[in-house]
Amino acid sequence: MNDDFQNNIIWQKYSITRIKRQRKYGHKSVAVWFTGLSGSGKSSIANFLEEILFKNGIKTYLLDGDNIRSGLCTNLSFSVADREENIRRLGEVVKLMLDAGIIVLVSVISPYKYQRKMICKMLGKKNFLEVFVNTPLSVCENRDPKNLYKKARMGKISNFTGVQSIYEIPDAPDVLLDGTESLEKNSKKLIKALYSNKVIPFCS
Ligand code: ADX
Repeated sequence: MNDDFQNNIIWQKYSITRIKRQRKYGHKSVAVWFTGLSGSGKSSIANFLEEILFKNGIKTYLLDGDNIRSGLCTNLSFSVADREENIRRLGEVVKLMLDAGIIVLVSVISPYKYQRKMICKMLGKKNFLEVFVNTPLSVCENRDPKNLYKKARMGKISNFTGVQSIYEIPDAPDVLLDGTESLEKNSKKLIKALYSNKVIPFCS
């Protein structure tokens, strides 16, 4: 068997490049990476932000942990190693979307600092905006929109983040959001960050 197959894979160059796409679309592509506990509000904020960007003609896509785990990552558990693989696969998808000129909103718990660092390195710092949705565990647990905290406390789910598994708070996120604030206020903060990072030229 030939185990040297990677040497026989030759990168194919495209005529339509990321730069050409960005020029055509009138904005840059970047990954807006939402990290935080389950129930912190990551997906709601990402969804609200996407609606605003979409209305303004900006090309976006939203990648949500639960949805990715229903397809691409359906075979992965919540062990440390599987969470790393979950994020690695997501990172590869994000890379393609960045090349396609899209602003990618990624909503995943991504609880470990080393894994978030890994993604930042994989995508390149200028392509990665780390957004920490800071919501106290007690608030998330009170919200419990999917009844998962309840199940975890009853021992029906193992390795649940915040219960049996840790969440490492980012030391210096690019954007810090208070998950108990309104969706409007948090989205405005993100639009401001995208504008000041020269990703988007305007947004109303
Ligand atoms: S991550 O930790 O690997 O980044 P990811 O964001 O993909 O997690 O998936 C988290 C979602 O899976 C949660 O919002 C929740 O709905 C569901 N889930 C199921 N089991 C667990 C668990 N043990 N820990 C955390 N989330 C879980």
